[in-house]
Amino acid sequence: MTTPENELSNSIANVGLPAGKIPQLRMMPAPSDANVYGDVFGGWIMSQVDIAGSLPATRRANGRVATIAVNSFLFKHPVFVGDLLSFYADIVKVGNTSITVYVEVYAERNRLQADTVKVTEATLTYVATGSDRKPRQLPPLESLLAGQGA
Ligand SMILES: CC(C)(COP(=O)(O)OP(=O)(O)OC[C@H]1O[C@@H](n2cnc3c(N)ncnc32)[C@H](O)[C@@H]1OP(=O)(O)O)[C@@H](O)C(=O)NCCC(=O)NCCS
Repeated sequence: MTTPENELSNSIANVGLPAGKIPQLRMMPAPSDANVYGDVFGGWIMSQVDIAGSLPATRRANGRVATIAVNSFLFKHPVFVGDLLSFYADIVKVGNTSITVYVEVYAERNRLQADTVKVTEATLTYVATGSDRKPRQLPPLESLLAGQGA
């Protein structure tokens, strides 16, 4: 709801984040996700990136997917306990059974100062699978859009 009470929070919340895009996930790492220095484990971030990337892939596959490859992964800046992380995921390539997704992660470090840093980017490939866990042909995009009433 847009009220004067919410206006400040809403305006700060979007500073430094990609305009016009909706994050697939927002997470805040806890102390148990970090090493003794307070830096968040890379493996924890990779796990969240895999989940975020799987969301558009699952929608495009209209069903289950499995991660077949992490093509690239860049930890450009550290992530700290208490950062508010936003995970954006875009499909960049579609094959017969595979979907490749580009994931970007932004950290809001000091939310009162709107201090936002792009910390991670990665490209992952998912394969649509059937109940037999074998690769499955992707449905035509048109059939999915028609199902959405588009
Ligand atoms: C995913 C899985 C079912 C695919 O079966 P497969 O027989 O290895 O797959 P295929 O060789 O037929 O390739 C399937 C697709 O993946 C693509 N692919 C294969 N190797 C790839 C690689 N290294 N990088 C990117 N894409 C790759 C192929 O090009 C093909 O895409 P296309 O159909 O769009 O052309 C199987 O590899 C698997 O079960 N892997 C384990 C998945 C897993 O446990 N992930 C972690 C937890 S989700």
